[in-house]
Amino acid sequence: MSKFIYMDNAATTAVRQEVVDAMVPYFTESYANPSSVYSFAQKTKNDMEEARETIASILGAAKPNEIYFTGGGSESDNWALKCTAEAYGVHGGHIITTKIEHHAILHTCKYLQNRGYDVTYLDVDENGSVGYSVAFTVVVTGSLHSEWSHA
Ligand SMILES: Cc1ncc(COP(=O)(O)O)c(C=O)c1O
Repeated sequence: MSKFIYMDNAATTAVRQEVVDAMVPYFTESYANPSSVYSFAQKTKNDMEEARETIASILGAAKPNEIYFTGGGSESDNWALKCTAEAYGVHGGHIITTKIEHHAILHTCKYLQNRGYDVTYLDVDENGSVGYSVAFTVVVTGSLHSEWSHA
């Protein structure tokens, strides 16, 4: 008899029951858009700001407003790369990534490359490693964006 083992928890994973329980009220009762001006939205906004403060504190962010909520991974990749690159400008840095990144990263890098940004796509070995401590997505000059991993 074969046993199914799910190995892609980095992409998406089961949500813990306590998280489901904590979220149910926001699907069924306090479902207002927190950016709305009417009073029904106030509780959602307050709860969201409280969550932002909690997350900022856990992550050690200097201020809660450093925490942004997005709809998913691709949106986050696009937003972080394009906005950071744009903030520094076409001559502000060099983006280094690997050839095995998620398409949300690779397509965004290609998009930036077509707009004049310098992008290097590193090869990886059979373990998915570049062989030394290196960024999987880094903008070197000016340290635009760096996520260092250890090989
Ligand atoms: C780096 C990275 N970007 C984007 C995604 C896709 O996320 P979403 O489906 O939430 O857009 C994933 C999913 O595995 C990912 O690992």
